[in-house]
Amino acid sequence: MREFKILIVDDNLDNIRVIANILKANPKYNFLYATNAQETFERTKEYRIDLMLLDIMMSPVDGYNIARTLKKDPNTKEIPIIFISAKSDNESILEGFLSGGVDYISKPFNPFELEARVDNQIRIRIAQEEKMMSVQSEIIDIIATLGEEQSIGTSSKHIQRVTRYATLLARLAKLPQKQIDEIELATPLHDIGKIVIDQEILNKQDKLSLEEFNKIKTHPAVGYEIFKDSPRDLLQAASIIAHEHHEAFDGSGYPRGLKGNAIHIYGRIVAIADVFDVLTTKRAYKEAWSLEKAKEYIELERGSKFDPDLVEIFVDHFDQFEKIYKKYN
Ligand SMILES: [Fe+2]
Ligand SMILES: [Fe+2]
Repeated sequence: MREFKILIVDDNLDNIRVIANILKANPKYNFLYATNAQETFERTKEYRIDLMLLDIMMSPVDGYNIARTLKKDPNTKEIPIIFISAKSDNESILEGFLSGGVDYISKPFNPFELEARVDNQIRIRIAQEEKMMSVQSEIIDIIATLGEEQSIGTSSKHIQRVTRYATLLARLAKLPQKQIDEIELATPLHDIGKIVIDQEILNKQDKLSLEEFNKIKTHPAVGYEIFKDSPRDLLQAASIIAHEHHEAFDGSGYPRGLKGNAIHIYGRIVAIADVFDVLTTKRAYKEAWSLEKAKEYIELERGSKFDPDLVEIFVDHFDQFEKIYKKYN
């Protein structure tokens, strides 16, 4: 289950303790602390904060000004801020909302009230995230379908299987749930860059010439270009996967010849999933390999083409990959 990071900002440590003690009843809440503006900005740079509880009377920079600064920065402007203050006059409360707060709690407060208001903001946060994910995955579906209709030489079955293998590998590698979701939703676009390559080359039955192969090799960079400027997490993931799924662990891959962990974990995972599927299915230019032979090949390329740790996981749980193969072939 996803955890939520709550940043409590107060120049008085006792106040922070009181708030954390009330809210820790919810096991999904994780707490971070800051006692001044500088620490607050450090935390928001370092962590992805889900909610901030912000005191007002602090020096030299007060809570209102901290909020205004955060709202001006595209990286932090989405963080919901609840002001908590001993000031309970109308003007102070208004100032709280004007400086970007989503809620205002005056002290002394009732613990239930604090809990309820925090829970509300977190619920809104979850709903927004779900909406975002579903909008993005809809966009991805549309683009992936467009790609299929253009017959980019990548069948929908290939896309399905690669996505399933990659998601399974991500889960077995114990990636955080958010990353597993991103791999599952963005992998269908790994070959979308082929959309700019001539049909003739993509569907060619004979061996490709060097020139034709070089054309095909442009697809990772094209896929990357399509999504690279999107601020959306899922489309960023699509851009990384498109760009890095043909990189090799020893630096012999393309387009950039990245090495080892310089290749994003998404790229390293999809590389194994993609090659495994290409090997085990029939192509115009080759017969399908047996599962055993494909597994041996991947083991052989441990540390050269593929991330050695991921190969180990893949081999150790091979029966699960076999199951997907049987189900989707
Ligand atoms: Fe590819
Ligand atoms: Fe592929």
